[in-house]
Amino acid sequence: MSENIVRHHYKVACEHRSRLHGHKPMIVWFTGLSGSGKSTVAGRVEEILHEKDISTYLLDGDNIRHGLNSNVGFSPEGRKENIRRIGEVARLFVDAGVVVLAAFISPFRTDRETVRQLVEPGRYVEVFVNCPLEECEKRDVKGLYRKARAGEIPDFTGISSPFEEPLEPDIEIKTDLLAVGEAAGQVAAHVMERIK
Ligand code: ADX
Repeated sequence: MSENIVRHHYKVACEHRSRLHGHKPMIVWFTGLSGSGKSTVAGRVEEILHEKDISTYLLDGDNIRHGLNSNVGFSPEGRKENIRRIGEVARLFVDAGVVVLAAFISPFRTDRETVRQLVEPGRYVEVFVNCPLEECEKRDVKGLYRKARAGEIPDFTGISSPFEEPLEPDIEIKTDLLAVGEAAGQVAAHVMERIK
């Protein structure tokens, strides 16, 4: 970063925008294997919050990788850059006073920790969407596990690239055991408490 860039502080700040929204902002970060249900649960959580007049925005891997991060791959460095950019985008949304739902595999602990550090303590909540690899592979909604096993996709999470499970997630949902609505309800209840 250039030393010739100086931050400008504006009068309208996060707290003023939050007042308009009627609640505090935060990042709700969903991490888990491909096919674990991150986007599905995040989508349902957004519906519940929207219904309660909460200002939300959902960011997810498959969509962001079509646009902002279309030039980023799946090597460890690519994933780091993917999550770094998403973190910065999420931070901007938080500054705008919005509840951001972010659904990314985000397999590396250090990358997730970097995002947590971007916002004030308590403004980041980590949701571990926990589903056994065998189950994700059985579902194989996008047919990617089959391709990965056939060696057609390098660095595939869970197959040829690691997933570092959260050690202390704020919320853990086991999507092989819970129905989507039940899982989403738990997350939404947690979020509602935190944004009062
Ligand atoms: S992350 O690891 O960098 O956080 P992200 O959530 O953005 O990943 O994107 C994951 C999605 O990209 C998966 O759901 C899957 O559809 C697709 N994908 C394509 N290649 C891979 C790969 N090598 N590993 C994991 N997911 C992949």
